[in-house]
Amino acid sequence: MRKCRLVFIFTVFLLSAPAFTHDIITTPVTWNREISRIFYSRCIACHREGGMAFSLLDYREAFPWRTAIKEEILERRMPPWGAVKGFGDFRNDQALTPEQLELVTSWSQGGSPEGEAKDLPSKDKLEEMMKESAWYGNAAHAGRQSGEIIAKGDFKLTNSFVLDGLFPRNVPQSGSFQIIAEFPDGRIEPLLWLEGYKEQFAHVFLLQTPLELPAGTMITGIPAGSSIALLPAPKD
Ligand code: HEC
Repeated sequence: MRKCRLVFIFTVFLLSAPAFTHDIITTPVTWNREISRIFYSRCIACHREGGMAFSLLDYREAFPWRTAIKEEILERRMPPWGAVKGFGDFRNDQALTPEQLELVTSWSQGGSPEGEAKDLPSKDKLEEMMKESAWYGNAAHAGRQSGEIIAKGDFKLTNSFVLDGLFPRNVPQSGSFQIIAEFPDGRIEPLLWLEGYKEQFAHVFLLQTPLELPAGTMITGIPAGSSIALLPAPKD
């Protein structure tokens, strides 16, 4: 155990050593141009002073985390979205796009340069981007919980329902769950593929466009012991 620890410390020392010298810059991607914009719209809602995690607000704070950042985003642990992309389509999707993943990876591996001051978005712009990422729309949903249906197990709708989103609760942290709707005519609609969904980061999944579910539709794939709140489209 002790030996392991020493090796670990030594390895960390070796890996972090270049930070104290000059990293060789091999990427055109900079903090001021691309990375700050991605982080403000996808990370800063949580990663700021007074937020739920350490600050990644500016270059000097983010730089020491550059390697961990790459690992977390490639493993899809950050930002904590908890669903597989491409299965269902969500208007509050916070997962990074393949292009964003590539930019952050390139920045992380290529010396993580700061770039030119003129490229950094203005403070107002940054705050606007931050609002975009703030809590995935949970707050917007909280005001209109009436009319939601709590689905458990294999769930059959007795009445027709216009589905606006899903809110999973008590989902097991490990495992992978495909939730689908089976229409009475046999048609199948993928709703949500939960993977790595954490209660700590519980959030709504709001559909890109509301989905009409006729009476008799079956919702399947809900993990045992969990429930999914089916959120109704607002009537206006
Ligand atoms: C919903 C809030 C939230 C969002 C959004 C979020 N994070 Fe996090 N992040 C956390 C929390 C909380 C932790 C601390 C993890 C823990 O306590 O286990 C964390 C931890 C981390 C860590 C450290 C992991 C380690 O090595 O321990 C990194 C790196 C990270 N986040 C990067 C990011 C990046 C990059 C983004 C945006 C692309 C992001 N996070 C978005 C909440 C968030």
